[in-house]
Amino acid sequence: MIDIHCHILPKVDDGTSDMEEAIMMARQAVKDGIHHIVATPHHRAHHFYNERDTIQEAVNQLSQQLEIYNIPLHIYPGQEVRTYSDLLLDYENGLLQSLNNSRYLLVEFPSSHVPDLAEELLYELSLLGVVPIIAHPERNKELANDSTRLKDLVREGALAQMTTNSITGQLGKNIQKISTTMCREGLVHFIATDAHNVQTRPCILSDAYEVIQEQLGREFVDYYQNNAKLLLHNEAIEPKLPLITKRSWYKFW
Ligand SMILES: [Fe+2]
Repeated sequence: MIDIHCHILPKVDDGTSDMEEAIMMARQAVKDGIHHIVATPHHRAHHFYNERDTIQEAVNQLSQQLEIYNIPLHIYPGQEVRTYSDLLLDYENGLLQSLNNSRYLLVEFPSSHVPDLAEELLYELSLLGVVPIIAHPERNKELANDSTRLKDLVREGALAQMTTNSITGQLGKNIQKISTTMCREGLVHFIATDAHNVQTRPCILSDAYEVIQEQLGREFVDYYQNNAKLLLHNEAIEPKLPLITKRSWYKFW
């Protein structure tokens, strides 16, 4: 399996605290059947600054250790970029790190709301050939309450990634329900761990895929797993367009 959102790089953000924990997380991932991880340190969220060069250096260091310990896991460079006013400028200046140097950039909104500039920013990114992936929309208060803006963004070409803990119910029944609905409505394109440590936010994908298979069917599991593969190879991803649900029609009338 492939994990496209993971804070395995040590000491760069609120992910693993040192190389020892990063190695523990690597073993945890391999045990779960994950052999490819895109490392996505926070950038511009809180006090975390992780530009492209820093990330590549940290990826090299971790990869060396994995080789020494003989752990069959590949680490690729990525970044989780918080929306900020100079994001486009920084992208053009090469400071941002797309997922494995592909067209896909992992973008995070603040957890409380979607910024006013979101639509324009994502549109501008698409003009530069970038496909934005919205990180965990189910954990964004505004989108969790009303997915209209997410539907619009996805219609405009953005993709979205859901976090394992949300779908397994570890963040509560309500988030689990919202997550399942978002998947069903075609608003989700990837499942990822967003792992930060080995205990409470672990690098485990299989539990979430089991729940998805049970609740939504094998077709969804295959779709998400295949998308992660396409992303890693910088290939185009077929978006499942959001469906208009019966409830929306009721609301309309
Ligand atoms: Fe994250």
